[in-house]
Amino acid sequence: MNTENTMQDKVKEIVKKYKGDKSALVAILQDVQDEYRYLPKEALLTIHEQMDIPMARVYEVATFYDAFSLTPRGRFIIEVCTGTTCHVQGGMNLLDTFERSLRINCGETTEDGLFSVDRVGCLGCCSIAPVVRVNDTIHPQMTQDEIPRVLRTYMAKRYGR
Ligand code: FES
Repeated sequence: MNTENTMQDKVKEIVKKYKGDKSALVAILQDVQDEYRYLPKEALLTIHEQMDIPMARVYEVATFYDAFSLTPRGRFIIEVCTGTTCHVQGGMNLLDTFERSLRINCGETTEDGLFSVDRVGCLGCCSIAPVVRVNDTIHPQMTQDEIPRVLRTYMAKRYGR
């Protein structure tokens, strides 16, 4: 079975879970994104076919929400908070250091597929600003000096250490 068939089967399974309910399109896209860390074109095509929703509509929803990505995302998504409180406490400097350390710009993914870097609005924990979130983990009171250690920690996870 090739990768495309496997992906089609997986997406069909997700659509089936929602009983093909057209109003569940966002939830279906979210499940697909959770599975592949982005929304592959083949997956969108399968959703279009299985749910009988125009491809333009599927794309419209897929591109409307910032949480969705049409390009592959890293295994670790680094979100640097640049909300007001984090901003005044150096959030942009943190973002800049992550970008320089990983040699990518905000919104991009490293060539090895390990890291993506994004900036986000207030993460709701201003009392421990400046804050960086990596996947589901909040790193409080982050400093530029700590960034190499944080990156090493996640790089080690790639090898299961
Ligand atoms: S501004 Fe960063 S957590 Fe609120």
